[in-house]
Amino acid sequence: MQDFQDRTAFVTGAASGIGLSLARAFLAEGANVMLADIETEALERAVAGLEGTGGQVDNLICDVADADAVQDAAQRTIARFGNVHVLCNNAGVGAGGPIEEVTAESWQWIIGVNLMGVVHGLQAFMPHMKAHGEAAHIVNTASIAGMLCLPNMGPYCATKFAVVAMTETLAAELAESNIGASVLCPMWVRTRIHESDRNRPAALRGTQAMKVDPARRSEIAQIIAAGLDPDAVAATVLSGVRANRLHIFTHPENEAMLSERFNGILAAFTSVTS
Ligand SMILES: NC(=O)c1ccc[n+]([C@@H]2O[C@H](COP(=O)([O-])OP(=O)(O)OC[C@H]3O[C@@H](n4cnc5c(N)ncnc54)[C@H](O)[C@@H]3O)[C@@H](O)[C@H]2O)c1
Repeated sequence: MQDFQDRTAFVTGAASGIGLSLARAFLAEGANVMLADIETEALERAVAGLEGTGGQVDNLICDVADADAVQDAAQRTIARFGNVHVLCNNAGVGAGGPIEEVTAESWQWIIGVNLMGVVHGLQAFMPHMKAHGEAAHIVNTASIAGMLCLPNMGPYCATKFAVVAMTETLAAELAESNIGASVLCPMWVRTRIHESDRNRPAALRGTQAMKVDPARRSEIAQIIAAGLDPDAVAATVLSGVRANRLHIFTHPENEAMLSERFNGILAAFTSVTS
């Protein structure tokens, strides 16, 4: 897809961070944008700040972990703007800790949002995109944690690896179509991801208190504060969509880390072949 003028984008997790920047970037290109999120007040603030910046903007409350809610959001977006051309499955949350200590509730929460949220978006919008036949593009937000495994981030890495796998599969399935697919894999970005617990449903808080070392929490907050500007991430996404790039990376320093991982995997073949 090259031109976003008068096209329509649907963005989840759009009230904050990367999603809000994606919404802003598509609006500035003349697209109509539907912002979807579960934070009512943040959504209202986001829309107020975006009005008049390009195309038309609207919002709806949608929990991506709820398949029916995402189907309903798709119908409402189509009713509001007509055909949808860009789908950004971006909503995500962070939960972690030593892998044997992560509670069942944490697994359920993070899988529901980070993995099933993407599945629900694809199921709700892809039949419509295929039916209208116009050029379209899907951007699934994973993370560099979908390419590299990091200690204490087991559930997050597991869900983000799944999003990478799903998007690579999707791109192969869509190869002959005019629908592109990209997976966004950033490292640290200046957002509220480290405050994800604000959105954890009460039913999934669990009886076992989350063990988060306060020193580690403050260290992560500092790393995030020094992270990339989400508007820069959105600009990279738009150029990635235009180039129909499958993997969209934002941090050049990740290349060496990925090489090390891939070389380590390939090295394991020496015992097979020699
Ligand atoms: N910030 C980073 O360093 C970083 C790095 C790599 C990947 N990511 C990914 O980027 C995406 C966006 O996160 P962010 O960094 O902008 O964080 P953020 O917390 O600023 O924004 C996430 C948004 O998702 C919304 N959300 C949470 N649960 C939801 C649900 N069930 N349904 C709908 N919306 C929901 C939140 O309300 C929030 O507005 C996530 O998928 C995250 O994993 C972030």
